[in-house]
Amino acid sequence: NQSLKLAVIPGDGIGTEVTAEALKVLEQVTASSVAGGAKFEPTRYDLGAERYLATGEVLPDSVLAEIRNHDVILLGAVGGKPNDPNLPPGILERGLLLRLRFELDHYVNLRPSRIFPGSVSPLAPHILEKGEVDFVVVREGTEGPYTGNGGALRVGTPAEVATEVSVNTAFGVERVVRDAFARAQRRPRQKLTLVHKTNVLVNAGSVWWRLFQEVAAEYPEVTTDYMHIDAAMIHMTTDPGRFDVIVTDNLFGDIITDLAAAVTGGIGLAASGNVNPDRTAPSMFEPVHGSAPDIAGQAKADPTAAILSVSLMLDHLGLTEAARTVEDAVIADLASREPGAALSTPEIGDRIAARVAG
Ligand code: NAD
Ligand code: IPM
Ligand code: MN
Repeated sequence: NQSLKLAVIPGDGIGTEVTAEALKVLEQVTASSVAGGAKFEPTRYDLGAERYLATGEVLPDSVLAEIRNHDVILLGAVGGKPNDPNLPPGILERGLLLRLRFELDHYVNLRPSRIFPGSVSPLAPHILEKGEVDFVVVREGTEGPYTGNGGALRVGTPAEVATEVSVNTAFGVERVVRDAFARAQRRPRQKLTLVHKTNVLVNAGSVWWRLFQEVAAEYPEVTTDYMHIDAAMIHMTTDPGRFDVIVTDNLFGDIITDLAAAVTGGIGLAASGNVNPDRTAPSMFEPVHGSAPDIAGQAKADPTAAILSVSLMLDHLGLTEAARTVEDAVIADLASREPGAALSTPEIGDRIAARVAG
């Protein structure tokens, strides 16, 4: 009877709304026999815009140290209202979310995309007829243009120069490429596509390309492919069934996964894991979407992405039967949703929780 320490960071806007539903489902699944007696001991951390605006704190070192001491983290979303003069852009995104990903070494940002039997894809029938859409993006999570390397000179003048330097270390690239090959090897189609822009970003591109080739030699069963990021977006909208596992850098992976969400049924369904495969720190599970200030407080957010993030979390913890139960409940719920019916956030949470309870 495992007892697992869960840090919960609901965050801002719809982050708090969808996290409440994810916890509802987690409670149901742990109460059932499929969880094999595992129990979660949640601690809630009120980090985000409200705390920052009230206290100036984003992620105090002492809080980070406490969070580190958990088995796993569930996050809603962070980000305040756009153009709030008291909340400069990036304060929460960099200071909270990216700091957690970097400090806890979440180098595999795992973002699966699948057209479930009940999900509504905006793609035309002739595209969907080409084959099943079920792929996973392995997005590098600790490097690339996200590291904050760069700066600005002569700010506010016509001579201003701003740079954001993409950091790509052989260590960082190799470890995520290895993880992606291992994942591809375990999947039925055993295919891995590197997505980059090696024709222009020749420095970063060459380290990605070289290490991709080197690791490929160790995985003869895995079919490899390469696409430039721009062309990959053509294929993602005209033939997404061709993808199995995609490995890519931090920024390309961010952009690809919003498009992947859109083509497979909407951002409200896209789950993710910020995984530390070496287990030197807790991994963190969260929906791909943000705090959605445009719909916050209206109970309009779809909590499915947060609920599927719970499924990814359970899987990461080895609770595979519980993970499957949550995913199956989501699939059944999607299939039973009336097209066009606007269900509220708690209605969707309740429906899925009820299915999990059986
Ligand atoms: P967003 O993902 O919050 O919203 C984009 C669009 O998708 C909006 O129209 C929104 O209403 C819709 N949407 C998002 N989630 C939905 C859901 N569950 N159900 C229904 N509709 C949904 O992206 P944005 O507007 O670019 O960003 C808003 C804020 O969130 C910003 O501050 C941004 O930095 C932050 N953000 C945080 C995270 C995160 O915490 N992981 C991710 C993305 C953006
Ligand atoms: C995401 C978000 C974050 C990212 C932002 C908010 C830092 O867009 O999780 O996809 O770019 O990784
Ligand atoms: Mn994003």
